[in-house]
Amino acid sequence: MQRHRNAQRVTAIMVTSLDGAVAAGGRGSQGLSTPADRELFRSLRRAADVVLVGAGTARDEDYRGVRPRPVGPDGAAPGPPPPVAVVTGSADLDPAAPLFTDTITAPLVLTTAAAPESRRAALAAAGAEIVPLPDLDPGTLLAELARRGLNEVLCEGGPTLLGALVAADAVDELRLTLVPVLAAGTAGRIASGPDAAPLRRMRLVGHTAAPDGTLLLHYRRASYPPNE
Ligand SMILES: NC(=O)c1ccc[n+]([C@@H]2O[C@H](COP(=O)([O-])OP(=O)(O)OC[C@H]3O[C@@H](n4cnc5c(N)ncnc54)[C@H](OP(=O)(O)O)[C@@H]3O)[C@@H](O)[C@H]2O)c1
Repeated sequence: MQRHRNAQRVTAIMVTSLDGAVAAGGRGSQGLSTPADRELFRSLRRAADVVLVGAGTARDEDYRGVRPRPVGPDGAAPGPPPPVAVVTGSADLDPAAPLFTDTITAPLVLTTAAAPESRRAALAAAGAEIVPLPDLDPGTLLAELARRGLNEVLCEGGPTLLGALVAADAVDELRLTLVPVLAAGTAGRIASGPDAAPLRRMRLVGHTAAPDGTLLLHYRRASYPPNE
């Protein structure tokens, strides 16, 4: 992918069981998340310019808008919460979902002209900003966000979207929560899709163990050139 993103940083946050499941108990990632993971999630959202998420996750996890930022220690009024930007080729999202009805900042629907016009119109009527793009390649998505000045990109998955970002070498940071449970089942891994070639080497820049055994791992892309 063309590195046009000089000022842009893409941080992915994902939670997994010890055996690699990304969903459990029919509740998606909520079935795995722990208090330490939720606190990290909230703090990363506070620092983000935009929350980028795949439509599968928005549908399965009943996404809603980001909650208001807290008032700062100096009492200054916080800015509006970041928008949720949903990546969808189909525009098959429910206009009555909390993503559209329970939000302060209008969500962005990143889609293409190939998505049915009636669906795009229904989401626009529900308050979303429809952003038709030539394609949904990571380079195109991130260039559009950069054009809007959305430089701190928090990608909350899911595996299909993260897989595309990894394949495009677009992940700058990964916040991986390892929850001390074994889940078995059929849930997939945190990223899926095309092979990353070469492998994207990351380095551990921070780690915290919560009292319940949750491990919060903070990785950053290794310095260039990769794989050396
Ligand atoms: N453990 C975790 O941290 C975590 C995080 C997030 C999600 N999850 C779980 O992951 C599961 C969902 O997985 P998923 O892979 O379906 O999630 P996903 O990546 O959120 O959604 C996939 C869908 O998003 C759209 N999409 C994403 N990337 C695209 C791209 N580059 N180009 C075109 N369309 C793209 C497509 O939507 P259309 O079909 O509308 O075209 C595609 O079907 C759920 O069980 C969820 O709970 C877990």
